[in-house]
Amino acid sequence: MRVVFLGLPGSGKGTQAALLARAARVSHIATGDIFRANVRDQTPLGRTARAYMDRGENVPDDVTIAMVRARLQEPDAAAGFILDGFPRTLPQGQALDRMLEDLATPLEHALYLRVDIGAVVRRLSGRRVCPKDGAVYHVETQPPKTPGVCDLCGTALIQRDDDRDEVARHRIRVQWAQAEPLLPYYAGQGKLLEVDGAGEVTAVAARVSAAVSG
Ligand code: AP5
Ligand code: MG
Repeated sequence: MRVVFLGLPGSGKGTQAALLARAARVSHIATGDIFRANVRDQTPLGRTARAYMDRGENVPDDVTIAMVRARLQEPDAAAGFILDGFPRTLPQGQALDRMLEDLATPLEHALYLRVDIGAVVRRLSGRRVCPKDGAVYHVETQPPKTPGVCDLCGTALIQRDDDRDEVARHRIRVQWAQAEPLLPYYAGQGKLLEVDGAGEVTAVAARVSAAVSG
């Protein structure tokens, strides 16, 4: 399975991509998670990315594309992947097509999770994440079993820096404007699947699974 997830910040890409990757037994590759791990480890890539992430802006295309190209060449990606958060600009989408052409493994679906802006603001403000394994929770809709603690590894949950109100609003406004041209791009290739991202996580997951297997 080779699928990319598209959608507003907070639309549920990470939540749904993790579920689909587990079910399909392929790797879940999230560019935001890779950038955050590099920021945490203070690598040169992390130092470059941090300034953009803190402002809620996209990391430049050349940096992001080189990172994804390297990641897709790792052995696990040969069996398929779910890309979450990439592409998010038209040049990234075109670069991905060229990379996959070189590997003779074209993308199968671009899955767009449609959620209204009011809902994503609520989702981002209540999100909590595990800094160790990246697991995603929400204080109301997806609480961990023990408040403030990751179900999987017991680490204390944190709020992402870019989920602070003004940065979150900036991400929604500025980043989506750059991602939106990907919808007609993939529709033109006959690869766009539009899924209603409203409602419970399990209901959305059932729609996602039906869309990719239908
Ligand atoms: P990234 O980490 O990819 O952030 P994003 O795209 O803004 O998306 P989010 O992770 O905020 O939301 P999501 O759609 O994954 O939602 P989630 O499942 O967590 O990128 C971060 C930064 O890295 C960017 O700002 C940029 O600087 C940089 N970057 C990354 N990729 C890049 C690229 N390709 N090019 C350039 N720069 C890049 O859900 C949100 C919340 O809602 C959670 O709390 C969850 O529990 C809850 N929730 C989920 N589903 C439901 C539901 N159905 N009902 C109720 N609550 C729900
Ligand atoms: Mg995410």
